[in-house]
Amino acid sequence: MIVALGADHAGFAMKQDLVAFVRDLGHEAHDLGTSSEESVDYPDFAASVAQAVADGKANMGVLVCGTGLGMAIVANKIRGVRAVSCSDSYSVRMARAHNDANVLTLGSRVIGGGIAQEIVRQFLDSAFEGGRHSRRLEKFPA
Ligand code: RB5
Repeated sequence: MIVALGADHAGFAMKQDLVAFVRDLGHEAHDLGTSSEESVDYPDFAASVAQAVADGKANMGVLVCGTGLGMAIVANKIRGVRAVSCSDSYSVRMARAHNDANVLTLGSRVIGGGIAQEIVRQFLDSAFEGGRHSRRLEKFPA
């Protein structure tokens, strides 16, 4: 699987760790920045990762900011993207199974690195269930 990852300055350290983690899981990780803890604007990175997923350049996206919230708001403005902010493994599993989420956003000031890795693992390992959930996805406004 190709996974695009991005972060702002608040999520930089966690994103660096997750790039390596995703590669260790056997996936291809595309690091779309940021590349330091210098202050940047999270919408720039949310849009890059979300667009990569929408364009089919990546199968999944992972975004990290301080809360995970700004990244999710921006990513969901890109057509075809279903971004969820998760901080527990049940939610991320259901976001894949029922909502076919294709972008995960994390808050580096909300969860620690170990939980973040578990959530990313669950996100990449869980499958969409289809069936009645496909019908519901088809009702999403364009
Ligand atoms: C940066 O301070 C912070 O606002 C950003 O990382 C993010 O949490 C926004 O949603």
